[in-house]
Amino acid sequence: METEVDKILLKEKFNKKDIITLLSTTDTTEVNNLYKKAYNIKIKYVGNKVYLRGLVEFSNLCKKNCYYCGIRNGNKNLHRYNIPNDEIKKAVVYAWKNNFSSVIFQSGERDDSLFIERVNDIIKTTKRITNSEVGITLSCGEQTEETYKKWFNSGAHRYLLRIETSNKDLYYKIHPENSTHNFENRLKSLNNLKKIGYQTGTGVMIGLPYQTIENLADDLLFFKNIDIDMVGMGPYIIHKDTPLYNLRHLLMSKKERFNLTLRMIAVLRIMMKDINIASSTALQAIVPDGRVRGLKAGTNVIMPNLTPTKYIEDYFLYENKPCLDGDTDEYLYSLENKVNKIGDIIGYGEWGDPKHYFERQKK
Ligand code: 5AD
Ligand code: SF4
Repeated sequence: METEVDKILLKEKFNKKDIITLLSTTDTTEVNNLYKKAYNIKIKYVGNKVYLRGLVEFSNLCKKNCYYCGIRNGNKNLHRYNIPNDEIKKAVVYAWKNNFSSVIFQSGERDDSLFIERVNDIIKTTKRITNSEVGITLSCGEQTEETYKKWFNSGAHRYLLRIETSNKDLYYKIHPENSTHNFENRLKSLNNLKKIGYQTGTGVMIGLPYQTIENLADDLLFFKNIDIDMVGMGPYIIHKDTPLYNLRHLLMSKKERFNLTLRMIAVLRIMMKDINIASSTALQAIVPDGRVRGLKAGTNVIMPNLTPTKYIEDYFLYENKPCLDGDTDEYLYSLENKVNKIGDIIGYGEWGDPKHYFERQKK
């Protein structure tokens, strides 16, 4: 018998009620039909190639105090670091030599001139030592339009800035309500990134305290509305040295957050067929092969962690963050096997730019 979910899956366009129905189902057959549809759309529009982005978490210094994050400024229970340039270079060369399509430089958020110049140097050095063959993505938070332009002109061409939640009330339940944590400024930053010409990515956390299914449906409509090129979404995971830890009794189970994330990915793939969607690291923190499970629900990007091991434990955004992730050849080998097993292949040596970005330029 055809269920309501099956009927919705035949529609050309989903309305908010449809999205809520799709996100709410936990029926095994319905969920599998949802994944199947999303996976087929992925194959048809972006193909079965998985693009690797080597993640370098080059500094955990942060001026902000997001209530959920383990490296928030107020957490004094960790050592703050800046990875020296030669170690960053080593990670970049590893990515390049292993034919990764890109690297991502991620850090806590700072806006002092020392930081701005350092990021600029990292971009230029990466270009220089790899003959401009490695794509550069940044994930360094909210910056002025001028800073975004400077980094773009030096060679960064993608930028990730998660909105975290598109609901303003919820935003201020998970961030302090002050000028350093301003919802409108975050929106403005996303617009600036697009305007400057970055391939722009955003995303949300799933299963936050107080977050409803309706909020999540709105998040998906938000991505569509701002015509985003890339999305990374992950389950919210607790961290004991953060204020949100006190609200852990309000959360759904980890497993439920994981499954809801997969449904979010699948619905988004059907709604935005030609964007890049990443299997976030947080998926892996709940289920060992979480990121590969993400591929079956519609993702096409994985970011192996190339941060040198001795710093990884101080980049603890949340509990149980996978550790010995991407830093071994062995790990990459096993990742490739798992990817091939589900019918996908790794897109070595290609940048894997989101098709959506080029379609957007034509508009
Ligand atoms: N659980 C899940 N994701 C988190 N992030 C930060 N803290 C957590 C957490 N506790 C995510 C945020 C941020 C990204 C770098 O990491 O979405 O944008
Ligand atoms: Fe800093 Fe980003 Fe963590 Fe917020 S989420 S505290 S900006 S590192």
